[in-house]
Amino acid sequence: MDYNYSLIQSELRNKICHDCLNQELIGLQDEQEKLLQLLRLCTLFGESNSILIIEPPASGKTMLIRSAINKLRDTEDVADKYSQVNLNGLIQVDDKLALISIGEQLGVEDVRDRSIKSFGETFAYILESYKNGNPKKGSIIFILDVFDLFTRHRNQALLYNLFEVCQSAKVSVLVIGVTCRLDVLELLEKRVKSRFSHRQIYLLYAPSFDQYVAVFKSLLKIEGKGHKPSQTKSWNNHIEKLANDGSVNDILRRLFDYSKDLRLLKNLLVTPVCLIHESHPNIVPDDIIKSCKHIVKDYTVLLLQGVSVLELSLIIAMKHLSDKRRTTTFTFEMVYQEYMQFILYKSQLVEKFPKPVIFKAYERLIDMALIKPTNHPHKRLQKEYWQMSLLVQPTQIAEALQKYPNCPTSVMQWALNPIHS
Ligand SMILES: Nc1ncnc2c1ncn2[C@@H]1O[C@H](COP(=O)(O)OP(=O)(O)OP(=O)(O)O)[C@@H](O)[C@H]1O
Ligand SMILES: [Mg+2]
Repeated sequence: MDYNYSLIQSELRNKICHDCLNQELIGLQDEQEKLLQLLRLCTLFGESNSILIIEPPASGKTMLIRSAINKLRDTEDVADKYSQVNLNGLIQVDDKLALISIGEQLGVEDVRDRSIKSFGETFAYILESYKNGNPKKGSIIFILDVFDLFTRHRNQALLYNLFEVCQSAKVSVLVIGVTCRLDVLELLEKRVKSRFSHRQIYLLYAPSFDQYVAVFKSLLKIEGKGHKPSQTKSWNNHIEKLANDGSVNDILRRLFDYSKDLRLLKNLLVTPVCLIHESHPNIVPDDIIKSCKHIVKDYTVLLLQGVSVLELSLIIAMKHLSDKRRTTTFTFEMVYQEYMQFILYKSQLVEKFPKPVIFKAYERLIDMALIKPTNHPHKRLQKEYWQMSLLVQPTQIAEALQKYPNCPTSVMQWALNPIHS
């Protein structure tokens, strides 16, 4: 199929690299409805309110607010009935900056030139000027991203004044605080806390795997603008097949189990999308597999790359033990015997250590949680006799050996070919 590759690539890049306005909100319908209700009350009926949205990073807080406001605009004629003020705790780091930004966003120009005496006075001046300048526009929606940082401002003046306005009937405002901190209410001063409505939305929502795959498909499918219908259909069919491919499905499952963060899923797709070109017309499973290796680091493999050769050899001995005996548990003595077989076989090539040194290395593996006791050992039982199991997968050992700096050849060979007694 003769695609317009640069057009496809720029459409997909826009979806992946920018927070897309048209992207559909998954789940969170109840929360969206709750927020929409408050937005309607504020913009249509002039009722003030305050609410906190509390959830972990990248779980859709900004998207939830954006989609609720979009829905409000779609369903009600509110275009000239409200103004929106966006503040961010990382940008407006003090109240003076916050006041200037509020003034600018509400079209009150001369805040920067005025000498700011007290916060309350200037804030009241801004609201007054706003009301006089825009008699029709009654309501203001304040969105305070990284809300917890505003609690560090002197006397929490901004928060105090915002919540105070919520309670007075001067202007109808909706204050939406957005934060990742669960303990945010504890950070509010008493007089601020008592003015807050105590409405909160906790988003503990996580997508299901099917929804996760659906987002994967929707991020890679094209809309059809600027393409022939047959091209759109063929590209989207190809994406459908890609998502059903066994290895791609495995990668998605692995990533999903690792983290349900949709930003990570978007990161996974950046390299495959950048590779789209006339000489590489389709996204193939291998692109996704390679990209996954770059973004998800296996910390066990990284840990194994940093252990000593002796510790690595003990891990190999444990792997051979479990292969030979078909058991997942072992004691130090068993590992020691397996390791000594290797030492006897390759006596000229490897460094020999006394048994206490080998035991010390074994203990370090316990400390690093690469091996662990199978059950809670009796406190009088010596560590040598603890039943242990290995927490490293054979594939992880193979990967670590490939990347291990200057790994002795004899150890490499032993890892591949166990010594049979
Ligand atoms: N429920 C959801 N439905 C669809 N996409 C989502 C959802 N939640 C998160 N996403 C995706 O994850 C990305 C991050 O979402 P968003 O920016 O809303 O997170 P956030 O909670 O505001 O993060 P932060 O704490 O970093 O500000 C968005 O680009 C969006 O595509
Ligand atoms: Mg956000």
